[in-house]
Parts: sequence; C-alpha cells; structure tokens
Amino acid sequence: MAIPKALTIAGSDSGGGAGIQADLKTFSAFRVYGMSVLTAITAQNSVGVQGVFNLPPEFVARQIDSVLADFGADAVKLGMLSTTPIIQAVAERLHAHRQRSIVLDPVMIAKSGDPLLEPDARAALVKQMLPLADVVTPNLHEAAALADMPVSSEAEMEQAARRILALGPKHVLVKGGHLKESATDILWNGREFTRFPAPRIDSPNTHGTGCTFSSAIAAGLARGQTLERAIREAKAYVTAAIREGFQPGRGVGALRHFVERW
Ligand SMILES: Nc1ncnc2c1ncn2[C@@H]1O[C@H](COP(=O)(O)OP(=O)(O)OP(=O)(O)O)[C@@H](O)[C@H]1O
Ligand SMILES: [Mg+2]
Repeated sequence: MAIPKALTIAGSDSGGGAGIQADLKTFSAFRVYGMSVLTAITAQNSVGVQGVFNLPPEFVARQIDSVLADFGADAVKLGMLSTTPIIQAVAERLHAHRQRSIVLDPVMIAKSGDPLLEPDARAALVKQMLPLADVVTPNLHEAAALADMPVSSEAEMEQAARRILALGPKHVLVKGGHLKESATDILWNGREFTRFPAPRIDSPNTHGTGCTFSSAIAAGLARGQTLERAIREAKAYVTAAIREGFQPGRGVGALRHFVERW
C-alpha cells in the first residue's frame, strides 16, 4: 500500500516541541511520510525565542521544487512564513506545482509572545496565502488580526470566520485553545458551522499545540480523509497529547506526540 506523504513548510524550533519538529513527529504518529521545507531557523527553548534567522526566499523556493518535483505531497501544512519575500516565494511555487490540500496555520506570534511574522508581512499573508488554503487555522488572536475585530467568545469566533472566509480560503477553522471555559474549535465552510468541542485541560504543557493540530489535519487530508474527519481525529489527538504532556525544559512543557506508544 502506498504511504501517504505530507510536507511542512515552516520554521525550525531548536527546542523540538513546535515548528517543523512537531510537524514531522505528528506526521509520523499518523503513519504519514513527512517532508520539510525550512523557512527560518529559530534559536528557541521552552522559555522563549532567543533568535530568528530567516532563510533566503530563493532557497525556500529551491527546497519546495526539490521536494515537489520528486516526491510530490498529498497535503501541505504551512506554518511560520516570517517575511513578505518568503510568503511570495512559497505562494509562487505552490501555485506553479498546482499543489492542493493546503492547511495554512497563520502563525503570527509564539506562545512566549515573540513575533514569528514580520508585521508588514500580514498583508502578504492575506493576499497571497489565504486564497491558496483549503483551510486556515487561526487562534483567537490571529482571527482577531485577520478579521479586524475582537475575538474572545464563540459568537465572535463565528463572525470572524465569516469575515476571514471572504478573504479567499475554502474553510476557516477558528481555534478555541485560548477561550476561558472550553477548547471548542469552530469550522465555517460558507454554509454551516461545525463545532469541535473539547474540555479545556488545565496544563502547563502546551508548547506547539497549534503546529501539532494543523499537521494532524494535514496528515488526515494526506490519508484521503474529508476535512471534517481529519479535524475530528486531529482534535482527539491533540487533546490526548496535551493531557499526557511533560516538561523537558524549565518553561512551557511539551506534548506527547507518540501518545499511543510512549
Ligand atoms: N488547554 C487546552 N486544553 C484543551 N485543548 C487545547 C488547550 N490549548 C489548546 N487546545 C487545542 O489545541 C489546538 C491548538 O489550538 P491553540 O488555540 O492552542 O493554537 P495556537 O494558539 O495556534 O497554538 P501555538 O501557540 O502552539 O501556536 C486546538 O484544537 C485547541 O482547541
Ligand atoms: Mg499558533
């Protein structure tokens, strides 16, 4: 049987818990062959981001061409894109390769508060990336930035999702990981809302939840699942991985990516 293949285009987290490291672990946990195109290298640990080195956009493009010209990808997850020229290069190459099944995690700031997208790159993300996405997965802060409105309740998540869909993606999944009461995510496809409810886990081990969740969705798409089924399985996975999280460093703890095995 052919092994499904997924590609992450994102930044490296030297601490191993987020970024491409989390993405590759997640793909593997779903028995999907993982490939990675690096956009940036971060010097990062569980306490914060100590440095960011953005790769030259031409070299990001070259990595995409290498991977897609040979392996191809059944799904692509987009994470940290850093700068306007990198966004332009990635959009241009994905377009040239006619890539489908694109999950866009519109990463803007790290959990530690450090910026991962240059402020002037937001407009490029909206204009060039949102229209390519099958699904975009903003958290409450990113939804607020993209929809240009405050987002702190489920009603506001729905309103923001409507506004973001108008910017071009096929689906919008607003994540409720930062809600106070629950951790309900809401999907909008332009016709109906689907809720993915989960209890909020009071845990300090949440480094890389967003990366892990969007990669799990991409893994499901790579395996041929419908978006709704992929989100349902991704949600169950991230919830279990948070519940069994642990603390390899001194700050925010990690998820247990191979939660079924160890
Ligand atoms: N404490 C929690 N308990 C249960 N589920 C959570 C918790 N925190 C996040 N989640 C879930 O994890 C997934 C990722 O959402 P979250 O809102 O944390 O993304 P994010 O803010 O982009 O993460 P990151 O800071 O890693 O980029 C969502 O399904 C969300 O509901
Ligand atoms: Mg995030």
